[in-house]
Amino acid sequence: MIRIKRQNIFDMKTDPIYIFRKTWATYQKVISNNLMFHREITTAVRKLLESRQGPLNVLDLGCGDAAHISKILDPAQVAEYCGCDLSPYALDVARNNLEPLGIRVNLLCRDMVAVLKEAPEKHFDVVYSSYALHHLPTRDKQTFFNECGRTLRENGCVILVDVMLEEQQTRPAYLDSYNGAVATLWKALTPYERDQVQEHIRNCDFPETPTVLHMLASNAGLTTCHRLEKQTWHEAWCYLA
Ligand SMILES: C[S@@+](CC[C@H](N)C(=O)[O-])C[C@H]1O[C@@H](n2cnc3c(N)ncnc32)[C@H](O)[C@@H]1O
Repeated sequence: MIRIKRQNIFDMKTDPIYIFRKTWATYQKVISNNLMFHREITTAVRKLLESRQGPLNVLDLGCGDAAHISKILDPAQVAEYCGCDLSPYALDVARNNLEPLGIRVNLLCRDMVAVLKEAPEKHFDVVYSSYALHHLPTRDKQTFFNECGRTLRENGCVILVDVMLEEQQTRPAYLDSYNGAVATLWKALTPYERDQVQEHIRNCDFPETPTVLHMLASNAGLTTCHRLEKQTWHEAWCYLA
């Protein structure tokens, strides 16, 4: 019989690498079963970027493992890719995912608002953020748009992929409906994985309606916006000055 010492079990629960691997494995399962519509959203974002003239300086905020952006970007069109994330483990995977593109890559293990505040003026052509902005409180989302407006070059754009409230929907109503959908539709996950996801949503999801995001973007001088894709609460938008 194999005995596991109590201490080892405790280590497994608090070790950040273990936690990262555990929750990241669940997120990978969510993606491979297209539960957050990465497939449709990736297609829509790729179509938009194809219409943009390179060479592009791209800033990716909350890039995670950069698995999707590395499939979206055409290396011939990119001058520089800068990604940031709070997780050093995700960035290690991102480095591997981006390497085959052969582009200039700069990965920063930092908070996205701090990175934006220090970004050079009129430097980036695309600020991209996928499923990360909803973690921030509303005032930091305003700072996000303000700083995007400052660091974007002429004709630059913000591409925002995120969960969004339905118009008029409150956060408690969103939590009920989204977690209800996880319980009934996310059958590809085990009950334990579904619990993990629901807990994450309850603790970390602070989405806004598209109208509120448009208002925050407008306050920052990004007055033109259009929706690229919408699948239930999962949306992709483009904001331009
Ligand atoms: C759901 S994952 C999305 C990853 C990737 N962008 C995608 O679409 O698959 C959210 C990522 O945002 C990162 N994140 C959350 N808050 C952040 C912050 N304030 N600054 C930087 N990264 C953040 C997390 O570490 C995580 O890797």
